[in-house]
Formats: sequence, C-alpha cells, structure tokens
Amino acid sequence: MNFKIIGTGSARPACVKTNNDLAEFLDTSDEWIRTRTGIEERHVCQDETLTDLATAAAKAALENSGTDPQELDFVICSTIRGDYITPSLACVVARNLGIHCMAFDINAACSGFIYALDCATGYFERGRAKKGLIVSAEAMSKMVDWHDRATCVLFGDAAGAVVLEQGDSLLASTLSSDGNTEVLSIPHVNGNSPFSDSKEEPHYLYMNGQEVYKFAVNAMSTGLTTVMEEAGLAPEQIDHVFPHQANIRIIQTAMRKLKIPHDRYRINISHYGNTSSACIPVLLDEMNQAGKLQRGQIIAMTAFGGGLTTGAMVIRW
Ligand code: UT7
Repeated sequence: MNFKIIGTGSARPACVKTNNDLAEFLDTSDEWIRTRTGIEERHVCQDETLTDLATAAAKAALENSGTDPQELDFVICSTIRGDYITPSLACVVARNLGIHCMAFDINAACSGFIYALDCATGYFERGRAKKGLIVSAEAMSKMVDWHDRATCVLFGDAAGAVVLEQGDSLLASTLSSDGNTEVLSIPHVNGNSPFSDSKEEPHYLYMNGQEVYKFAVNAMSTGLTTVMEEAGLAPEQIDHVFPHQANIRIIQTAMRKLKIPHDRYRINISHYGNTSSACIPVLLDEMNQAGKLQRGQIIAMTAFGGGLTTGAMVIRW
C-alpha cells in the first residue's frame, strides 16, 4: 500500500514578465533567453505572498479531489524558503485550511516534489494516513539578484499541489544528494547581531550554470533509467514524462540519451521558467485539468537541483 493522487491544483502570481520586459533593465535579449533556455515569460510575485500561492494551490487540489480539509492527515510543503523560517509554510497553509494535522516542510530544492511524494509514502505504508496534501511552492523572484542576467532570467514563481489517498500508484522511486555549496547555493540572511564579526552583504542565489547543466543532464537520464528498470518498464511503456523545467536544452539532451518516445515529454517552461519544486506539480495540474491524463497511464518524473539533489519516480495514474 502506498499512495494514489486523487486531485491536483496550482496557482501562479498574476504578474507576467516577458523576456522583453526584462531586457528593459538588463543587458539581455528575448533571443538569448529563448534560444539558450526555452523561456519566453515567467510569473512573478508582486503583492502575493508565498503563503497565498501555496494556499490557493492547496484549495484547488482539495476541490479537484472532492476532499474536505478535515479529512487530511498531513500537510507537507516542499519549498526552498517559506515566508517564515518558522512557522513552516505547511503549518501556515494548514492554518489557512482550518486544520490541525501534522504539517512540515521539506527543502530538497527543485527535487522537492518527488522527495515529498516519497516521504508521504511512508505514512500510507504504516497506515498512519488515509489522505494527505502536498504543496510545492516557490517564490524564486525573491531570492535572485535582479542585476545578475545569468540567473534572474531563468526563474519564476508558482505553486502546485496534490491530494493523496492510500493506493498503489507508486511503482519506483530514487532520491540522491551530493552536498555542494559551490555550484548552486542561496546563503541565509545573517540578522544583525552586534556580537557577530561577519560583515556580509545581502545574499542572493548563486549558480555556476555550466556545472549545474552537466550535472542535470546526467541526473535526468540516470534517474529515469533507474526507476524504469526498478519498475520493470520499457521506455515505450511510459505515457508521460514530467521533467524538471530548468532549461529546454537540458531536457532535449536528456531525451536524446533515453529511448522514451520524444512525444511523451511534457514541457511548459516557455510560460513559467524554472519554478523549482513547483515545476512538476504545476505541469501535472495543467495536464490533469486539460483532461490529458487517463487512469492507468504511466507517469515518469525526474528532477535535480540545489543540494545537489536528484529525484525520479514512476507512478501509475
Ligand atoms: O533548477 C536549478 C538548476 N539550474 C539549472 O539547471 C541551470 C543549468 N544551466 C543552464 O541552464 C545554462 O548553463 C544557462 C542558461 C544558465 C547559461 O547558458 P550557457 O549556454 O551555459 O551560457 P554561458 O553561461 O556559457 O554564457 C554564455 C554567454 C556569456 O557571455 P560571454 O562570456 O560568452 O561573452 C554570458 O555572459 O552568455 C552571456 N549571458 C547572457 N547574455 C544575455 C549569460 N546570461 C545572459 C543573458 N542574456 N541573460
């Protein structure tokens, strides 16, 4: 016994900024961003908080699954940074839903949704939960340096959510980490202790794009190969692949390494950019709302990100 996804939801900020909008204040161009990444526009928070987005996605998933919040046995949020260090984003979402079940956050950066699904499996296997909620919510626009054209153009803000119940959808899963603060990191704020000798400037997301690129291509193809083997599935048996949406070129390079038919890959990076752990559940919700997922179909997911973490999973929809 593990889980089954019975509903999906998503939310994004109202404000959409195109590549040309960014070129008004950055030394960049629509042509560079589109050809190097596949991104055309991204949603960015103005007055929305991350909690607003997470709560809206959660409510949409609850409605889509016909679940009363009181039925939930857990709320797990994946996020790099909630609105508060404490309370967790999950606690605040649970408060907004008017419930008091266990609630906690997972930070596995862009792999967070797959980490959260894997973690939730344990509660169903132990019979500890009958229904649960996962929300992946990220406000990357609040963490990038908007003077750094090499990073800020890549990211966007969004939230995606799923409601789970006991089931047998999970076929295989693999997670990994490779602790590394050199190629991708966002240091914490340091407060203003009068006793600290540290005189650091404000911190922003730092990334060595080319190093992450190499890691990403390998992580995507290795992750998918591992879970397909573990589940005893041939590449042509995969109906949908939901890859982490970091760069269209990363996805295309991984596609060429694998034998999964190319028309099975689902991609929405052009409208969102990289929304970290929200990428996969937002895409899942878009496909679900469009009626493009049939019960019994095989879905493969693969992600990589800060940590450096990786996650891959195959489920039966
Ligand atoms: O989920 C988190 C994981 N993150 C990722 O997956 C990111 C992985 N990395 C990438 O996607 C790519 O490495 C990037 C999109 C970040 C960069 O693409 P690239 O093809 O590796 O470009 P580059 O870093 O080699 O830079 C090429 C040139 C440089 O100029 P010079 O030195 O050749 O004159 C950059 O300064 O492009 C320049 N450049 C830009 N030009 C216009 C970098 N950013 C921009 C920009 N607009 N926004």
